[in-house]
Amino acid sequence: MSSRWNTARLALRRAGVESLVTVALRGGLRPFGAWQALVFFERDLTVAIPDVAAGIPVETRVVAPRELESYRPALEAAGLRWDRLEARAAQGDVCTVALWEGKLVHVSWVTVAGAWVPELRATLRPAPGDAYVYDAFTLPEVRGTQVQPAASAHLLAWARDQGHRRVTFYVRGSNPSALRIVEKTRARRTGVVWCFRPGHGDGAWMMGLRSRHGPRIDFGAGATVRSLGPAGLWVRHQPR
Ligand SMILES: CC(C)(COP(=O)(O)OP(=O)(O)OC[C@H]1O[C@@H](n2cnc3c(N)ncnc32)[C@H](O)[C@@H]1OP(=O)(O)O)[C@@H](O)C(=O)NCCC(=O)NCCS
Repeated sequence: MSSRWNTARLALRRAGVESLVTVALRGGLRPFGAWQALVFFERDLTVAIPDVAAGIPVETRVVAPRELESYRPALEAAGLRWDRLEARAAQGDVCTVALWEGKLVHVSWVTVAGAWVPELRATLRPAPGDAYVYDAFTLPEVRGTQVQPAASAHLLAWARDQGHRRVTFYVRGSNPSALRIVEKTRARRTGVVWCFRPGHGDGAWMMGLRSRHGPRIDFGAGATVRSLGPAGLWVRHQPR
């Protein structure tokens, strides 16, 4: 079975028709540029947060920036680059980890300062009172065993106890496994941002950013942003 057909089949089974359409569009437009749909969500922390037990016995923890160094070997063993993680801790971001028999099998990050959104080549800055979750990753060998939902329940309870009123995050419309997670966390969909980068170059058309309240998207000083009215934005980034 071709990998494209397999991806489409999984998208339909795991996340429904919308995900299948995104996967198809992305594949069809690939010769002309990079197409992506980013689906944004919020989780109201005043709504009850049920505990979730993973299918394997994991221990979940929130790691404060000052404790991160002691997790360095485990994070590097999971294939993560320390220099990137160090920069996150330096701006106060925390991570949630899941450990299985002492091995790190999941990590996800929380920030109030901001995080890079690669598809938009921009920094997302959360609104005051919000915590923004990014870069969730479960080791391939334990995917599908509810490790992420278990870690996420822990993270949400932590964020609530820190006084945050909501948690926001986005999921790629072409990522059916991540879209499935959303159903499990009782998050509310707040909008979709479409982005098309013709020729995979430095300019991109984006739509849906203006209608969303909440996080601010910061394209950086080197970018030029032109409004196309109701048709969205045209953003030209500094050449990489
Ligand atoms: C998305 C991700 C974090 C989910 O983590 P997880 O711990 O496997 O979470 P779950 O066990 O709840 O599985 C979520 C869904 O993935 C799908 N899934 C099941 N087995 C899978 C596997 N081996 N590989 C990929 N996805 C799988 C299933 O649809 C599952 O939901 P369901 O079992 O209720 O149908 C993980 O797939 C991952 O790290 N992916 C790569 C990075 C990524 O996409 N991050 C998300 C950025 S928003």
